[in-house]
Amino acid sequence: MNQSYKKYKPFKQINLKNRQWPDNVIDKAPIWCSVDLRDGNQALIDPMNLQEKLEFFKALCDMGFKEIEIGFPSASETEYEICRELIEGNHIPDDVTIQVLVQAREHLIRKTFEAIEGAKNVIVHFYNSTSTLQRKVVFKKDKAGITDIAVKGAKLIKELTDAYTGDTNIRFEYSPESFSGTEVDFSVDICSKVMQELGATKENPVILNLPNTVEMCTPNTYADQVEYFIKHLPNREAAIISVHPHNDRGCGVAAAELALLAGAERVEGTLFGNGERTGNLDIVTVGLNMFTQGVDPKLDFSNLPKYKEIYERCTNMKIHERTPYIGELVFTAFSGSHQDAINKGMEYMKESGTDYWEIPYLPIDPADVGRQYEPIIRINSQSGKGGAAFVMANNYGYKMPKQMHPEFSKLVQKKCDELGRELVPSELMEIFEENYINTKRKYEIVGHPTVTEIGDDKIRVTGLLRTDGDEKTDVNICGEGNGPIDAFFRALASVGVCDYKFINYEQHAISTGSDSKAVSYIQLMTPDGKSIFGVGISSNIYRSSLFGVLNAINRAELEKENN
Ligand code: KIV
Ligand code: ZN
Repeated sequence: MNQSYKKYKPFKQINLKNRQWPDNVIDKAPIWCSVDLRDGNQALIDPMNLQEKLEFFKALCDMGFKEIEIGFPSASETEYEICRELIEGNHIPDDVTIQVLVQAREHLIRKTFEAIEGAKNVIVHFYNSTSTLQRKVVFKKDKAGITDIAVKGAKLIKELTDAYTGDTNIRFEYSPESFSGTEVDFSVDICSKVMQELGATKENPVILNLPNTVEMCTPNTYADQVEYFIKHLPNREAAIISVHPHNDRGCGVAAAELALLAGAERVEGTLFGNGERTGNLDIVTVGLNMFTQGVDPKLDFSNLPKYKEIYERCTNMKIHERTPYIGELVFTAFSGSHQDAINKGMEYMKESGTDYWEIPYLPIDPADVGRQYEPIIRINSQSGKGGAAFVMANNYGYKMPKQMHPEFSKLVQKKCDELGRELVPSELMEIFEENYINTKRKYEIVGHPTVTEIGDDKIRVTGLLRTDGDEKTDVNICGEGNGPIDAFFRALASVGVCDYKFINYEQHAISTGSDSKAVSYIQLMTPDGKSIFGVGISSNIYRSSLFGVLNAINRAELEKENN
């Protein structure tokens, strides 16, 4: 057995008494801040170029972000130039605040202030790492030394802001980086000193961002830390509490949600969870999780495929098929029982006229994220009776009766097994045509049968019946009955075709380009007591049912031949 797990220390819980967050609910959107162009960008194999950043920035504005971290302008010439282009090229809408990240170091702070000149609204976001581990192995400083870095940074930022002559509206954000790996009392202490230095007030609050820089604990523990921090922070109303979860344990979304329950007011994250290592938390998922609880996320997700396309092109990253709300397969049901339930849910919604989304297995209406044209139901060997019928109804307009679903699904499953793969809708149509439209015909009516009403609710059917495609077998048939099917059965019986019993039929109109036809589904019982369906299509409703009868008989005869 691998004993390596012993080298890891368990995360230390904090001692939070009477925690409140488990009973809270998320009932309004937080302030969102996109860090795609900074945290997301710095994690790319090839960071975005200027054009890509501009396009991405515009997409974020279109989605509704009002706070966007655009980069690290003091870190490189490219980053500086991008910041300048955004400002000088007038790419920033008046109601959008750009955020610039900087380490709490003098020359970088000064350079950052140069970079933001001329911008209307800016958040200067400075940080230094405060965690026990980083203090020990990276900075080799004690708490006082780390506090000193933060306070000196805050002091300089305040001075530069006070001396600033331009029109820029400058706000401040401070991150005790690796907050979740920092003793929470120390986080409170350093943040409150930073607040004092910056002169934070209720009217001019400082954003205190609490990064889960490396996710090392369960989301409830992070929520405890956030709640504790908020409870103990002096002058709390002079701060906006922001969270910045990463996703190392795959719980970034949950950590953000529980942190919101714990009182966070602002969330930093990225679209589709791009970011360092396993990424930042995915704002699309957090936002749409709210949406599906009836809460307005204040971001527009109605055309997610557009954002997916921009994201994938600009970042060169791929969105996984199972990514919530946007993955290629997330609105697709393969399992038979799921398909059936979705089908029933759709019928229920149509019939009941309910105001709510009430479809099992689909937590959101795909149309709400711009996904209405995709197949909800896809067919493989796991699919059930209802799935294939759903695809035929939705893609081609053939609404097979329920009793016919098992028969058609058997034909489909046989094909799936033969090919060993999923079938696309056109292949289902081929199966349908092969079995119900272009079936080998033992019996056929040459030309058209005539159907005449002969009074007293009586119908007469006449036609020329050919057997096995041989003209020499042509025989006139005639029968009268109380409906076209009954009359046709009698006509067939008059020439000895009398082994089949009629069970049921259903009919509906189907549009075939410019005109409309009738489709009849006829269920017969074979001499050995088996049910078999036939389909007839004609512009004449009577004839469509006669063709359906003949198709069912021909299918049964073919089966007899093949056995
Ligand atoms: O993850 C992190 O801690 C960061 C900070 C710089 C905010 O990205
Ligand atoms: Zn980060």
